[in-house]
Amino acid sequence: MTTSDVTWPRAAGPLELRLPTEAALEQVLEWRNRPEVTRWLLRTEVEPEAFARRWLEETGDPLDHSAIAMLGDEVVGTASLWVTDGMGQTHGDPAVFQRSEAGIGYLIDPAYAGKGYATQIAGALLALAFDELGVHRVTAGCFADNIASWKVMEKLGMRREQHGVRDSWHAELGWIDGFTYAILDEEWRSAR
Ligand SMILES: CC(C)(COP(=O)(O)OP(=O)(O)OC[C@H]1O[C@@H](n2cnc3c(N)ncnc32)[C@H](O)[C@@H]1OP(=O)(O)O)[C@@H](O)C(=O)NCCC(=O)NCCS
Repeated sequence: MTTSDVTWPRAAGPLELRLPTEAALEQVLEWRNRPEVTRWLLRTEVEPEAFARRWLEETGDPLDHSAIAMLGDEVVGTASLWVTDGMGQTHGDPAVFQRSEAGIGYLIDPAYAGKGYATQIAGALLALAFDELGVHRVTAGCFADNIASWKVMEKLGMRREQHGVRDSWHAELGWIDGFTYAILDEEWRSAR
């Protein structure tokens, strides 16, 4: 599948996932660098112009399917999906594991947190990954202390596959634990 096969906007419960526009990214930047948003991110504070440019440039990248989550005309969050190669042996047919996985991520404007929106966004990203992009497996990572983030993954049936003991560097807290969650194509289908 190429990026042109993915149609936008896409529904995510009451939200709509749309391709980024300059106006939408301006709204994202109103909250993107707030401490309550950056606290558990790896890419913490962003430079606004570079942030917007990167989002706009990545539109059309066949390996990137990121979008802005809207409630009517209001931006409530961002949704990120990137396609990667799985692990696999080089003999045989490498096409089997090339582009066979996706990673997902989500950010919610603190004004809209706690309403189930991240779960709606992540669910829509899993549907895109499995039903349209046809990947075999989707993963997502977070700091172990980011309870709201891993609750989202667990609500969607993702499995905690890795508890990395002090594997993640946090600028204020030092080495702390990280989690990796995953779900397979067949698990997604059987859970629906
Ligand atoms: C983490 C984040 C995405 C969650 O978004 P959200 O829209 O509030 O998430 P949802 O409402 O869909 O689900 C959150 C769940 O975590 C639960 N939760 C939140 N904080 C919690 C806590 N401290 N302890 C236990 N559960 C908690 C909520 O109750 C909810 O579960 P429920 O539906 O069973 O009640 C959002 O807060 C955010 O964008 N944070 C900043 C950026 C970030 O950390 N992104 C993730 C990077 S890995």
